[in-house]
Amino acid sequence: MKIEIVTARNDHWEETGFGTLTACNSVFDSLKRAGYDVKLNICESRRDLEEIVKKKPDLVILAIKYISLQDGKKIWLSEYFSQQGINFTGSSRDVLKLDSNKISAKLYLANRGINTARYFMAIPDQYRCASDLPIAFPLFLKPTDAANGNGIDDLSFVTNFSEFASKVLSLYSRFNTPILVEEYLDGREFTVSIIETPNNELIISPIEIVPPESKNGLRILGQQVKNDNSEELKPIEDDEIKNRVIKLATNSFLTLGVRDFGRIDIRANKAGDCFFIEANLVPGMTAGSSYFPKSCEIEHALTYDEVIQLILESGLCRAKPKIPPNQLMPTNQRTAC
Ligand SMILES: Nc1ncnc2c1ncn2[C@@H]1O[C@H](COP(=O)(O)OP(=O)(O)O)[C@@H](O)[C@H]1O
Ligand SMILES: [Mg+2]
Repeated sequence: MKIEIVTARNDHWEETGFGTLTACNSVFDSLKRAGYDVKLNICESRRDLEEIVKKKPDLVILAIKYISLQDGKKIWLSEYFSQQGINFTGSSRDVLKLDSNKISAKLYLANRGINTARYFMAIPDQYRCASDLPIAFPLFLKPTDAANGNGIDDLSFVTNFSEFASKVLSLYSRFNTPILVEEYLDGREFTVSIIETPNNELIISPIEIVPPESKNGLRILGQQVKNDNSEELKPIEDDEIKNRVIKLATNSFLTLGVRDFGRIDIRANKAGDCFFIEANLVPGMTAGSSYFPKSCEIEHALTYDEVIQLILESGLCRAKPKIPPNQLMPTNQRTAC
């Protein structure tokens, strides 16, 4: 069983993936320990990808969604490897687009009856005064297609027109795309990791995330909090809320058509109503800190190696020949191919 991990140099990323090279190395080490023949590839060009195709791997692990070429074009890896007839982990390009663009995901899910915060888009000078805005204050402003809390801070929370106009301008100048403006959700924050097993069962790991309170009294998972790892991750204690979170995350996962694994972010309002925030379909996999392995550990006491084994199981079952190596996973936790 030949496995190739594909990533790019950190400075070539615009979006999330498994994480830095350290995260990819953790995945690599975990697979080595499980007895797989695995290589880690840092890809920058079409040629690098062609070299991987030549090796005819049984499975390519996509640690990033696309590589950006020198001419500014992107090669979406799931599309590329699918065209080459090579088995790869994770979702198809069409589904990954819904991860990259929060508005497309919200629209897609809202049209299918799934709760997501009401929203509109804004560019500088589009609106003249508060009464022009389609949704009343307080509002929350963020980039459409960034990740890792980029562009998100206390100024994302706006309560009047001048704060609104100023954050629209600063986000627009930095990201150069229309701004996503949502109703502000003043409740708790959750994330749910989901792994689909080869027999189509879901291993669901919901947790609550408690960001530290800012000097303005807000609890937001912005860039600073994520960089500092200062948020608390804990089990969801209230069963009613937990069931609501699981249901929303599962419905979102299945409705989006996610393959293999993904992480759904959810936020509630004070009344406890839950809303889809975004889907992370190539989620961070840094051992010891990323939400995906941490939530599996908190909810199911899974070790990092077990999580890696589980997220790859469906991909490995798609591979031929279907011979498992010396598996780390105890037989009772393994799903049949
Ligand atoms: N509508 C909202 N109301 C309140 N807080 C929000 C809202 N949308 C996002 N946030 C806060 O901002 C954080 C980051 O938003 P998210 O859309 O998940 O972006 P990222 O891709 O950077 O993780 C969320 O985890 C949450 O703390
Ligand atoms: Mg998020």
